[in-house]
Amino acid sequence: MAEVAEKKKSGGLAGVIAGDSSICLCGSEEESLLYRGYPIEDLARFASFEETAWLILRGSLPTEKELSDYRVVLKEKRDLPVNLKAILEQIPKDAGMMDVMRTSVSALGHFEPEIEEKGRFDIADKLVSCIGAPLLYWHTLHTKGKRLDLVTQEKNHSGHLLQLILGHEASEEHQRFLDIALILYAEHEFNASTFTVRTIASTLSDFYSAICGGIGALSGPLHGGANEKAIELILKFQSQQEAEQGVLRMLERKELIMGFGHRVYTTRDPRSDIIKDIARKLAEDAGDLETFEIAERIEEVMRREKKLFPNLDFYSALAFRYLGIPTAMFTPIFVMSRIVGWSAHLLEQRQNNKLIRPLSNYTGPKRETWKPIGKRS
Ligand code: COA
Repeated sequence: MAEVAEKKKSGGLAGVIAGDSSICLCGSEEESLLYRGYPIEDLARFASFEETAWLILRGSLPTEKELSDYRVVLKEKRDLPVNLKAILEQIPKDAGMMDVMRTSVSALGHFEPEIEEKGRFDIADKLVSCIGAPLLYWHTLHTKGKRLDLVTQEKNHSGHLLQLILGHEASEEHQRFLDIALILYAEHEFNASTFTVRTIASTLSDFYSAICGGIGALSGPLHGGANEKAIELILKFQSQQEAEQGVLRMLERKELIMGFGHRVYTTRDPRSDIIKDIARKLAEDAGDLETFEIAERIEEVMRREKKLFPNLDFYSALAFRYLGIPTAMFTPIFVMSRIVGWSAHLLEQRQNNKLIRPLSNYTGPKRETWKPIGKRS
């Protein structure tokens, strides 16, 4: 068989530049993260989730008027079509939450299909506003036996989400903490789910299909599912000493410690310090520093033994728990934020599209001679 000239391979596409993007710079020399040029630290400090979503999607910071209009647009798009609610009522109560999210995005595509005249941001804005709503509607129906009113009067997106999740208004501080977490999760260049979205978009498929693919990719424990596994790990231990011994045993058995390591960052994840401060503050408020210290001990052991550092998922898991978010909703919260990045990448892919179709390194048998069925052993 002829060799393909200069065919290069990289396991898991590590280190491969798979396309141009002007949305996010992740992990340059100083391990930084910029959305459209703005450092994540400044966005977490000064911006709201809505402002960040506008920046990532439209490419520049909104003016005061644009931002207040955008808040109104997002507020108006919170409800779901009645037919979608009827479908949600048929989904079994033991379904996986990420599966419910995937199904509902797919179903929404039937009721609110892409229509060019509505403008290029129409579906993106709709999904940023309501992608969490079907899950919360379905969950409330099964846990409380009631049909959730999806139109809250909360001005902020994070306050709105917390109200739907908790069933009551959250404090301003908790709303702000979720807001910051949503900012941190909103975008991260060519991660597995975003690349999946771009790959689907590159075939000129529709918006909803691409987002369904993104949800599927994100649900795995090596990607978005890591935050749920991280909290299970932290809560397994009763003391710092137990955590130290438990993690050492896991490392001996070559088990992965979820919430540690990263494909792009090599020494630190710039988002981790921000969410760690929030987790610490929430732990103090809850009078539960012991759990926070157990998490810190796991961090210490991972640095010492493996030179690995916590990624965003590790302390987010703790923060989400203190905010009262059920564990099975941790990865769905990631979706509620990352829908921003996915949408921006989908739109960017469409603007300068080239079908994504790499090569494989063939490892199968050489050309074989056909054997009729009676002559096979
Ligand atoms: N726990 C224990 N060991 C880990 C580890 C972790 N979380 N992450 C990496 N390692 C080890 C690997 O086992 C491997 O060891 P080896 O060289 O002895 O085989 C080495 O570090 C290199 O890891 P590798 O899997 O090649 O890195 P990657 O770039 O392919 O993977 C991740 C990156 C994120 C998939 C990986 O760090 C991981 O699985 N982390 C846990 C899941 C997670 O938190 N995901 C969220 C990512 S934001």
